[in-house]
Amino acid sequence: MNKFVAALAATALGAVAAAVALPAGAQSPIVIKFSHVVAPDTPKGKGADKFKELAEKYTSGRVKVDVYPNSQLYKDKEELEALQLGAVQMLAPSLAKFGPLGAKEFEVFDLPFIIPDKAGLRKVTDGPLGKKLLGRLDAKGIVGLAYWDNGFKIMSANKPLRQPEDFRGLKMRIQSSKVLEAQFRALGAIPQVMAFSEVYPAMQTGVVDGSENTPSNMYTQKHYEVQKYGTLSDHGYIGYAVIANKKFWDGLPADVKPQLEKAMAEATAYANEISQKENDEALAAMKASGKIEFITLTGEQKDAWRKALEPVLAEMAGRVGKDVIAEFQKEAKGGTQ
Ligand code: LMR
Repeated sequence: MNKFVAALAATALGAVAAAVALPAGAQSPIVIKFSHVVAPDTPKGKGADKFKELAEKYTSGRVKVDVYPNSQLYKDKEELEALQLGAVQMLAPSLAKFGPLGAKEFEVFDLPFIIPDKAGLRKVTDGPLGKKLLGRLDAKGIVGLAYWDNGFKIMSANKPLRQPEDFRGLKMRIQSSKVLEAQFRALGAIPQVMAFSEVYPAMQTGVVDGSENTPSNMYTQKHYEVQKYGTLSDHGYIGYAVIANKKFWDGLPADVKPQLEKAMAEATAYANEISQKENDEALAAMKASGKIEFITLTGEQKDAWRKALEPVLAEMAGRVGKDVIAEFQKEAKGGTQ
């Protein structure tokens, strides 16, 4: 039995055991398994824990939320399968991981330099496009509940990455997004899709030369211990869609669902409020460790990155949708005014 099937079987057995253990007449709580791949001490980890706290409080214990962090239960691809099968009820995958589900439009968030700043991003996630994208998950048996921020990405490797040419020939780990694949190809690197939990050992053993991630992820997964340089390029962003199994969510009792929606709205505000600080602190901690050197691009270098990455937009328009890109740019621009 492989790990995935074993975990599914264990889930089913656990449910049976819980039912058997209940005294006659007692109402069993509705259990939500919320699986994610990052450390508890990250914007997403803290957001999930906040949702647990509020959901249990607002439903007076009728709902129990079990949070499984750090790929404890499932890795990236498996957790999406587990959600669709109903083995877990909630996830918050990175927006760069929805392509394999057939929801390619989410990869618009991965386009290099498409997000001007957090205010612009918020206009998109809170606006018509954000809503439309979440709505498209319905057809996949998934309900899109909210967007949670992580932050802007750092490029890391064991050599300094200042110019686009510096990427040439480097094996770079990516999330499962075709846009990210195109991004690294445009830089002359060799992209390699890999589950988040496998990145540290791959860096340590040289299976990959580098990657891109947020400070909070680099810090909590200790990537900074096995990467000598990080470039503060702000070329891209990692954020999440909080999602639930549709059958489960739609089937919630009428007096429970509004409480969970309230808990989600408040957990979302909390997660998005702390994300910047969490990333700032992680960056400061990595700087203080002395194990990694951070590079800030000059204006000229940044222009060279922009120029090298510009073709990715046109190249990916067929996949992500020309209209989606145009709408994104329009709404994001509104945010900076
Ligand atoms: C990654 O795989 O690098 C990230 O998506 C992990 C995460 O969930 O932040």
